[in-house]
Amino acid sequence: MKKIEIKIIDYRPEHQSHFERLNRHWIEKYFWLEPIDKFVLMEPEKAILQRGGNILMATINNEIAGTVALKKVDETTYEFTKMAVDEKFQGNGLGYALTKAAIEKAKIMGAEKLLLYSHTSLKAAIHLYRKVGFRETHLEPGVYSRSDIKMEMDLDQIKIIKADEMYANAISTIGKKSFHDAFLPTFNRYEDLVEYLDYTYNVEKITDSIKKSNNVFFVALYKNKLAGFAKVKKQSLNMQLTGSRQMELQKIYVLKEFHGTGVAAALLHSVIGLAKNIRPACIWLDVYIGNKRGIRFYEKNGFEKFGKHSFKIGTQIFSYDLMILPGAVFGVNQESSQIVSYGND
Ligand SMILES: CC(C)(COP(=O)(O)OP(=O)(O)OC[C@H]1O[C@@H](n2cnc3c(N)ncnc32)[C@H](O)[C@@H]1OP(=O)(O)O)[C@@H](O)C(=O)NCCC(=O)NCCS
Repeated sequence: MKKIEIKIIDYRPEHQSHFERLNRHWIEKYFWLEPIDKFVLMEPEKAILQRGGNILMATINNEIAGTVALKKVDETTYEFTKMAVDEKFQGNGLGYALTKAAIEKAKIMGAEKLLLYSHTSLKAAIHLYRKVGFRETHLEPGVYSRSDIKMEMDLDQIKIIKADEMYANAISTIGKKSFHDAFLPTFNRYEDLVEYLDYTYNVEKITDSIKKSNNVFFVALYKNKLAGFAKVKKQSLNMQLTGSRQMELQKIYVLKEFHGTGVAAALLHSVIGLAKNIRPACIWLDVYIGNKRGIRFYEKNGFEKFGKHSFKIGTQIFSYDLMILPGAVFGVNQESSQIVSYGND
């Protein structure tokens, strides 16, 4: 039997006809299209994306097979809506994969609560919702005439803050601890590691760095606990790349106990949000060649390797992969990227 490969990908404009087809099918089969459905299905960019929501598509062996949307209700609440899997692909775990991926995406976007409206006759959907943690709540009248059930789920909260100097201490602590835990085994001399951390994460040095207009620091809180940080240089040229507008994701560190919580993805989401605003032609970064988990994380988020370089820490030379996220991935083409100076870093 042919192996089934399921992928969850972000919606792109060319997916509109699939988004409409998949949802139109089940809504017209069991109910009827309401005016709000028509708007959402025909103009998902206006109805969902431009209002701060998100849409995911599921593929099975590279064929579009399902979808789900997150409609923004307010800063911390999203409606889980328009989930559909092509009938010929149902029962393969796609609905489950889409539901889990949408929950993760919502957390990354800062959601604290998800809600949904459904109908109790949609047995597979209701089963799936309960399985992942949605619970029934009071249904207010008049949202969709076809729904007879409303469900909600509280999410483990991730907050991303653009850091000011007040966070220098926190950044220093997270940086030292997470680098130490991740890279201790790669150092031949412990003194090299300690010297590097004392220099790089000196609180005064971090304070100065936060003040520089070319730098942006994001700090992540998970359930109100400090969990990680990212540092971006808005303009930073890598000589192995062409083009004059390059943003560097210089550091992204998450404390060990928060690995797997979505904190790293939430930090990256904020970095890409910044890039969408200031429109560099790309985001580049370097990652230690032995950091397989980190490389997988970046690849999963659209980064590709484009070169290597090395860096001396104390007496030891470390090799790094260089990776790039092209502007096209976050909606910037080369021509429209702007040349701006942010001064010295
Ligand atoms: C709901 C839907 C997206 C699920 O897609 P899917 O790819 O078949 O989902 P999965 O294969 O991941 O899982 C389906 C789950 O539902 C269960 N299920 C299927 N039919 C069921 C039924 N009649 N009653 C109860 N559970 C059922 C399956 O056993 C499975 O659960 P399990 O993993 O615990 O065994 C799909 O059925 C669909 O498109 N339905 C029409 C649209 C819809 O209802 N959308 C939601 C509107 S609110």
